[in-house]
Amino acid sequence: MRLIMRQSEKDVAVWTANYIVQRISFFSPVPGEPPSKPFVLGLPTGSTPIEIYQALVGRHNAGLVSFENVTTFNMDEYVGLAPDHPQSYHKFMDDHLFSHVNIAKEHIHILDGCADNLKAECAAYEEAIKKAGGIELFLGGIGEDGHIAFNEPGSSLTSRTRVVALTRETREVNARFFSRVDEVPKQALSVGVGTVMDAREVVIVAAGKRKARAIAACVEGPVTQMCTASCLQMHPNVTVVCDEAAIAELKYGTVQYYLEAEKRCK
Ligand code: PGA
Repeated sequence: MRLIMRQSEKDVAVWTANYIVQRISFFSPVPGEPPSKPFVLGLPTGSTPIEIYQALVGRHNAGLVSFENVTTFNMDEYVGLAPDHPQSYHKFMDDHLFSHVNIAKEHIHILDGCADNLKAECAAYEEAIKKAGGIELFLGGIGEDGHIAFNEPGSSLTSRTRVVALTRETREVNARFFSRVDEVPKQALSVGVGTVMDAREVVIVAAGKRKARAIAACVEGPVTQMCTASCLQMHPNVTVVCDEAAIAELKYGTVQYYLEAEKRCK
């Protein structure tokens, strides 16, 4: 694991956007299906990614990155919200990223929370990821309870894309986007922990004091289904990018180690 620490949430966004731009450029994606090589990018929603998407749009407008040969897979979607619902993740992605960059509609994949057969929708999503050649880089946030995607505490660490029940805590946290907590859907479709673990690289972003306990559990805690992000300790290529507030619960020695590691590995 690599831990990148920056002062503010804005610095986290800038580092992460620059890193994604660099990774796409270095990969030099070309169109088509495997063995041709588009860049397959896993994407999150939530508050933390907003500034990252703004920064990516800025770099796209400045001609520093093209999404022409990028294929995306989003992490999750609420069950029962139509794509044009103001709080659907389809709408979120369109508003914050997709409508501002040169990505083709057919390269965008987001689970359909209104599909007639949700189980089949999830199985087809796993197949589509496989067909695209697997995810090159999965960008994700972390929940206050340590979830990645909507893999709540208690989710199997080998889980695949499926229908999940949201915890009361997650629904309360996400109620800020709805008028009241009762409007937050009780279920979602989400890629599994196993789906994220299959990505060739994972980048997790966290900002703010409310993420400090989850970050400590993810980085220093035991690998446990009670903090599904802790599973990333078993992944060979993970970067966790945090602001100062989000590392508040890490041990002094842990912070010193990763600061030193970043200096040496420049
Ligand atoms: P946030 O959500 O970026 O809105 O804090 C992160 C998450 O729940 O994964």
